Amino acid sequence: MTATLPPASAWPAHLYAHWYIACRSKDLGARRPLACEILDQPLVLFRNGQGKAAALLDRCAHRNIPLSAGWLKQGELQCRYHGWRFNAEGRCSAIPGLCSGSSDQPARRVPAFAVCEQQGFVWVYAAANTSPNHEPMVFPESDNPHYQQLNWSFSGPSTVEDVAENFLDGTHTHFVHPGLLRNDNRRGQITARVTRSADRTEAYYPNDQTLDGWMYRILTGGLKEINVTARFIMPSVLQQEYTSNRPDYHFYYTVGLTPHNAGRITGHVCMSFCAGRWTPLFKLVSSPLFRIGIAQDLGILRMHSAHLQRFERPQYAYSELDLLRPHIDHLRQGLPAQPFEREVTLNL
Ligand code: FES
Ligand SMILES: [Fe+2]
Repeated sequence: MTATLPPASAWPAHLYAHWYIACRSKDLGARRPLACEILDQPLVLFRNGQGKAAALLDRCAHRNIPLSAGWLKQGELQCRYHGWRFNAEGRCSAIPGLCSGSSDQPARRVPAFAVCEQQGFVWVYAAANTSPNHEPMVFPESDNPHYQQLNWSFSGPSTVEDVAENFLDGTHTHFVHPGLLRNDNRRGQITARVTRSADRTEAYYPNDQTLDGWMYRILTGGLKEINVTARFIMPSVLQQEYTSNRPDYHFYYTVGLTPHNAGRITGHVCMSFCAGRWTPLFKLVSSPLFRIGIAQDLGILRMHSAHLQRFERPQYAYSELDLLRPHIDHLRQGLPAQPFEREVTLNL
């Protein structure tokens, strides 16, 4: 008998060939394992004897007890039922009481996942026993001392597609964030360029004069021209990038989403902001504003998710203003990677 993964879930197979944030580095200590779920796979994270992060399927090879309920012994995981021990590669390194023969046999191995720790996050490659052929995403300017950083995380009952659309779409801002981001009675016409390539889709809003709410006014104060890019990067990275005619102004708002299962998601937010002499004020001024904005978005996403439970399946209609959602769905469903480019004029 050999170790196997859990039964195939409803996730398309290509979504497993990606990195996802399993946890923040600071949440993974050296003394206790940590349970995490990615794409319906229960995982256990821990640090080996050298402090290096490791990830295994959270299922003891013996009787399938969760290894995350066990203990760390000299950088290895010990199951709390009969005490089998597993190293960072998932090999069974000890069976207490076994007098002869090696504890390590193929059938006693636990599937292991590639791990990469960078920029304060532990990333896990979601396909077990696989060597990834690419690295995890790097949060842009997150380590640049000329930028100010603002980081936080959130969790909620939603999907990658719904959170991505909410984060990247301008048309809800008049109603979910009235006054804060935009106003329904003060719209302006703008032409956006929508593109899609093999791994991303984005909407570029050149010289966006519709950013009229007081949060934008504070964050872009005194700037004549703001160019906004709303970007989705496979499998689950969301990004807004703001540039200006003033070369020292640059703002990245990036979210790495981790889909735990069909109904729960975590987002890790990294903001990097540079605005010349105003840079040091960024955290102070923007933190309470973003807190209000994210609470408004999470409120509507919770309502959305709860209401969808009352129907057999979502039944969505679309308009020309749904700039990115069809392309996000296209990428997430693994449809053929034909490039796409189109301009759309909207009253934002
Ligand atoms: S179930 Fe893990 S050692 Fe028996
Ligand atoms: Fe929003």
